Amino acid sequence: MRSLQNILVTGGAGFIGSDFIRALFAECSGFTGRVINLDKLTYAGNAENLSTVEKKFGGTRYFFVQADICDKKTADFLFSEYDIDTVVHFAAESHVDRSILGPEVFLRTNILGTFTLLQAAKNAWQKADGSIKDGVLFHHISTDEVYGSLGTEGSFKETTAYEPRSPYSASKASSDHFVKAYFYTYGLPVTLSNCSNNYGPFQFPEKLIPLMILNMLEGKKLPVYGDGKQIRDWIHVSDHNAAVRLILQSGKPGETYNIGGENEWENIELLHKLIEIVCDKAGLNRDTVIQTITHVTDRLGHDRRYAIDCTKIKKELNWKRQFDFETGLANTVDWYLKNKAWIDNVRSGEYRNWIEKNYTKR
Ligand code: NAD
Ligand code: DAU
Repeated sequence: MRSLQNILVTGGAGFIGSDFIRALFAECSGFTGRVINLDKLTYAGNAENLSTVEKKFGGTRYFFVQADICDKKTADFLFSEYDIDTVVHFAAESHVDRSILGPEVFLRTNILGTFTLLQAAKNAWQKADGSIKDGVLFHHISTDEVYGSLGTEGSFKETTAYEPRSPYSASKASSDHFVKAYFYTYGLPVTLSNCSNNYGPFQFPEKLIPLMILNMLEGKKLPVYGDGKQIRDWIHVSDHNAAVRLILQSGKPGETYNIGGENEWENIELLHKLIEIVCDKAGLNRDTVIQTITHVTDRLGHDRRYAIDCTKIKKELNWKRQFDFETGLANTVDWYLKNKAWIDNVRSGEYRNWIEKNYTKR
């Protein structure tokens, strides 16, 4: 098993990246190394997501660097300054609707940003004569959306041909190809994972689950795209990141691992489930909330169904999900109910000032 020492995490202030870092520093994880979090803090980045880690480990084992992954100088500097042996690349523009409205930043961050990091990793790897020669150096976080849209049967395997259909998934597919190209061309030790829809605490309320929870609590309409019968395969963010940690420790360079929840729900079914939980916990009237469901114009090019076959990671790396959906959703609703200050900061935009107010200058 590969030991993790100096990990460069990109996009660590986002939803999945911050969960990854918090879990790594959790008492039982056994991790004794350092994390360098490279994040630009776009609208989706929230340094407050890492307040507990910053308080305990800031400046000793946790280092936050606010910069763009497209910035070559910063990337080269971080590899040499921190002796990076592992990269976990989460940073991306991640929201499909935004990619339809404004695709350009998706090309820049997701493709050019990934390329910039690959170049920096390759340069550092070629110079190094020590630990980073072996095992996984560069782990790329990707999505099931690169495989396209399924009919009623079947699921995406690692060997499924790519057929991205939104600007977001096209940019992620392109970055995946670059990562693989660096393996085949230069021998850079890379691994990739393609995961299905994540849910859990700290998710920015533009995504379906937190958006619906907050709209219910605020008495707003619940916008369902089209007929609402599109299907997504939901996985708890902690289960996703547990899989990522396994890949870092035992994954085989050059390999892709699909990660999924084996938990398919039509959007409209999921919404009804969520209404049940939220109404129960927040004391809202279920019939009144159901009346706020509003079918709106469908997303352009809306993929109908995603489903992941994760047999490979289960068999080869012994990965197992911990969360059943019922518990995971209930915990998620609890989190949003208990973290009003986080929600208020996100809603008001105050979360953007968190760094200035809370970080000591070093
Ligand atoms: P997110 O939008 O919550 O966070 C993205 C983070 O990246 C933010 O902190 C943002 O500030 C940072 N970032 C964006 N552009 C940057 C740039 N140019 N330079 C530096 N930092 C930048 O995203 P997420 O939902 O946490 O997703 C993380 C990764 O996981 C993405 O690569 C996404 O494609 C992938 N993914 C997400 C899901 C999901 O359901 N959310 C599922 C599968 C894969
Ligand atoms: O499948 C993995 C992908 O899951 C990740 O790669 C993306 O980064 C992540 O954003 C997510 O993409 P989706 O488009 O599936 O997630 P989103 O939460 O935006 O939407 C989930 C489903 O709900 C989708 O079918 C669109 C629908 N939807 C979404 C919103 C925000 C609605 O019906 N109404 C809404 O208001």
